[in-house]
Amino acid sequence: MEFKRVKSIKGELTVPGDKSISHRSIMLGSLAKGTTEVTGFLQGADCLSTISCFRKMGVDISNRGDGTVAISGKGMRGLVAPKDTLDVGNSGTTTRLMSGILAAQPFESRVNGDASIQKRPMKRIMTPLAMMGADIRSELGNDCAPLIIKGMDLKGISYLSPVASAQVKSAILFAGLYAEGQTSVTEPALSRNHTELMLEEFGVDIKTEDKTVTISPAKELLARKINVPGDISSATYFMVAAAITPNSCVTVKNVGINPTRDGIIRVMQMMGADISVENTSETGEPTADITVRSSGLKGCVIGGDIIPTLIDEIPAIAVLACFADGETVIKDAEELKVKESNRIDVMVSNLKSMGADIEATEDGMIINGGRELHGAYIDSKLDHRIAMSFAVAAMNADGKTDIDGFECVDISYPEFYEDLNRLVEG
Ligand code: S3P
Repeated sequence: MEFKRVKSIKGELTVPGDKSISHRSIMLGSLAKGTTEVTGFLQGADCLSTISCFRKMGVDISNRGDGTVAISGKGMRGLVAPKDTLDVGNSGTTTRLMSGILAAQPFESRVNGDASIQKRPMKRIMTPLAMMGADIRSELGNDCAPLIIKGMDLKGISYLSPVASAQVKSAILFAGLYAEGQTSVTEPALSRNHTELMLEEFGVDIKTEDKTVTISPAKELLARKINVPGDISSATYFMVAAAITPNSCVTVKNVGINPTRDGIIRVMQMMGADISVENTSETGEPTADITVRSSGLKGCVIGGDIIPTLIDEIPAIAVLACFADGETVIKDAEELKVKESNRIDVMVSNLKSMGADIEATEDGMIINGGRELHGAYIDSKLDHRIAMSFAVAAMNADGKTDIDGFECVDISYPEFYEDLNRLVEG
């Protein structure tokens, strides 16, 4: 896909539903008794992979394609053995969260996905699930998918997680639904808590104290209505575009601003962006309308506990930092190396080819803002967040930029190109 400099970006939009919440709605809806109705469901390829996996386990899921999904839950013991491999596509969230459920089912399953999934680390869930008594192994012995999971009787554990990962935490909590006794997970920093909030909504006894979450086994989950807010990770591209493109103003409506996900707002404030958060609603997952206007920006240091709250936004923040005065340091973000691509290397090499002053570090990157960017050939590595970040960079660069593999935006934001184009002037 080809991109060029634009004059400004203006207007209002809603972005598609939150990816994390959409996945969880299918999983918990499938395990509940009765019909769970979901609105605002993300029709991205990752969430469709979750639907197809649970359909393979006998769950009747009707997806109207307009964000409305009805899941006829089978109850906690109602899933049936899939006839063949559960295909997770590109989705790490499906792989890891579903593994926690499969670890307790009365059947064996095989979980596999695309080339990127087959390189992503699974030891981080295999270790705690095995401690709970699960029989989970990597088919090739390399701690990656394909995974073979044989359901077992599980027992609760207290797990000290070496990584702040909501995927690891959620896999353990889902297994904990079936375990004997309580299960608790302590993280080095708090990761997104959508699983905890949704489990509570489904009637599960779950408590969070500081960085430890404790769950009691459940007898039954109660089907519910779930309203998925707009994904702040998808809103980020418009927020950053509005901040760095001259004479711009964009309002993204109904965005999820859960405090475990709102790091991008806090970072933009730190960098001096003109950002306002209005019409906040506090019921369930909090939401707001976010407006960003173009402004001067200054570099900052981003590290520590804020990292898990903006982990998926770092590619876009790297672009933002190229347009800020002074140095931006992103640290404590080594998790970026094991996302859909190695996001440190891919951002640094692609931004360098656009003329940015950026260096990779062990756990992040250092960017000296203020250099004019120019168009370049960008290899997205089929990573959706890389492709969208460079669309935003290219709109503020001289000449033309070709983004290879741009169609991968389908993973989390199928309408991204159309939505962006609608707001672009000139
Ligand atoms: C997700 C958690 C994050 C995030 C991913 C979605 C989730 O991964 O990067 O896009 O839905 O739980 P980690 O928790 O492994 O960092």
